[in-house]
Amino acid sequence: MKIKFIAISLLLSTMAVSCGGNEKSEHKTDNANAKTEHKKTEHKEEHKEAKATTSDNGKGIGPVSSVELGDIDEALVEKGKELYKANCTACHKIGKRAVGPALKGVTERRKPEWIMNMILNPQEMVDNDPTAKALLAEYLAPMANQSLTEDEARAILEFFRTKN
Ligand code: HEC
Repeated sequence: MKIKFIAISLLLSTMAVSCGGNEKSEHKTDNANAKTEHKKTEHKEEHKEAKATTSDNGKGIGPVSSVELGDIDEALVEKGKELYKANCTACHKIGKRAVGPALKGVTERRKPEWIMNMILNPQEMVDNDPTAKALLAEYLAPMANQSLTEDEARAILEFFRTKN
């Protein structure tokens, strides 16, 4: 009887020890997981910051990195005006706010590259460019991608240059 009791309590205490051991090692893995998670978030944040600085040269994000402006090219203005009428007037007016902002004076408040990138790459612009992000927060409607070519966007830019 006594021996049985000792045997059982021995068995129980071994179980307790091994359980305790298990708990410890589970804890360790949890900790390790938490550390990796932490590293991952840190990394993400670094990435975001880097993006904000590169896009903060005022040129926006997209295919256009440099535009040379000369004297107003009247033929290009005409082409731009037609493209603007066909693709943009559902949401924009020159002189007053509509679905999107009034476009009067837009070439004074934004760089030419930014305007073209907004026309050609609006989705990424409102996701990652600080200025476009702020506009989306104000207008609450996404600017539509009208699938224009770079030349077409350049013509619309020329038209906007006459609307200051
Ligand atoms: C479906 C509606 C819609 C269409 C179509 C549209 N836009 Fe926009 N646009 C917007 C909205 C809304 C904004 C403000 C940013 C946002 O909310 O995404 C905007 C912002 C802009 C801006 C920035 C204005 C500023 O004050 O900085 C420019 C430039 C612009 N659009 C040009 C155009 C041109 C050019 C076209 C035609 C090729 C066009 N948009 C077509 C809705 C539209």
